Amino acid sequence: MQTVPASIVILMSGRGTNMEAIVRACAAEAWPARVAAVISNRPDAAGLAFAQAQGIATDVVDHRQWSSREAFDAELAARIDLHAPAVVALAGFMRVLTPGFVRRYAGRLINIHPSLLPAFAGLGTHRRALDTGVKWHGATVHLVTADVDHGPIVAQAAVPVQDHDTEETLAARVLEQEHHIYPAAVRALLEGRLQVDGSWVRTLPAGCVQSGRSAP
Ligand code: GAR
Repeated sequence: MQTVPASIVILMSGRGTNMEAIVRACAAEAWPARVAAVISNRPDAAGLAFAQAQGIATDVVDHRQWSSREAFDAELAARIDLHAPAVVALAGFMRVLTPGFVRRYAGRLINIHPSLLPAFAGLGTHRRALDTGVKWHGATVHLVTADVDHGPIVAQAAVPVQDHDTEETLAARVLEQEHHIYPAAVRALLEGRLQVDGSWVRTLPAGCVQSGRSAP
């Protein structure tokens, strides 16, 4: 009997390089899963073209067509649920999600943020890192809770801030790391290798598959 691969749904708003990294890793490492759909809240998101070229279903739920966050999130959830995903990965999805939406996908919803959380939650992280004068900056993958840009930390990557850095050079150095840590974290969540204890997350090594899901 053939097992049906688990589905991943990726939400994004723009260029989609993290989505691309997940799609590529899923294929290259033969994950027991497939990226079933890429959904954007922006019809002009550049990343949609890559997904379509890979034969992945794409969908757009344009937030401007909904009068409230609740209505937008309800429609988004309906489109996501068509794919019965084991994991919903936010990859540059620039919308604040309602607590109800977050609850619906609790333990399946993961995000990447371009800073070393809890530093620089919110927007403009690279500019703020430079303005603050930190010597290390980076990216964080975390499980999503109703508290925006918080939630149990799954993985982080740090990069040095250099004297001559601009917002662009620093962003590029961080993004390169994002493309490593995010696919690895999505895979670990998918394979049930995340053990969550309050705000502490332990990632079991690859091949160490749990019998049940351990994310909350
Ligand atoms: C990435 O740097 C990601 O960490 C960030 O948006 C960028 C999307 O780039 N996400 C956030 O700021 C979420 N708070 P991409 O579209 O090329 O993946």
